[in-house]
Amino acid sequence: MILVLNGPNLGRLGKREPSIYGAETYDDLVGLCRDTGEKLGHEVEVRQTDSEAELIGWIHEACDGRIPVVLNPAAFTHYSYALRDAVAQRTAPLIEVHISNPAAREEFRHTSVVAGVATGTIAGFGLQSYVLALHAIAELNTPS
Ligand code: DQA
Repeated sequence: MILVLNGPNLGRLGKREPSIYGAETYDDLVGLCRDTGEKLGHEVEVRQTDSEAELIGWIHEACDGRIPVVLNPAAFTHYSYALRDAVAQRTAPLIEVHISNPAAREEFRHTSVVAGVATGTIAGFGLQSYVLALHAIAELNTPS
């Protein structure tokens, strides 16, 4: 089982700044992740929340269950030390993903407080960032 966790505003994909995030919807993202999981032989569960507390609770669940995670922390990426501290407790691979390439955007997006405690980061490939991350997790297949 792999958890795909999405932070604030990602439920609005398709409507939200399509010139940056594309025309595909959140439901399209869910379908893409599930299909990719099926091809890789892993059950994939996709969730989204606008709440920092809920997202942190899901990270705790993954830590306790040794569940690998694909995480798009959205704007929390740039300032949530609480999310970083949760991710630091991980017991399985966790890949940070971004649809856009934050390094090529506004200065405040150049900092990720999560990157230093993630296994790695994949950014800038549109929804394919999630596909690449799921492949990476399937390849890693070992804790840490
Ligand atoms: C994002 C990039 C973040 O800077 C932004 O706040 C988001 C989405 C991305 O997937 O490109 O909400 O994480």
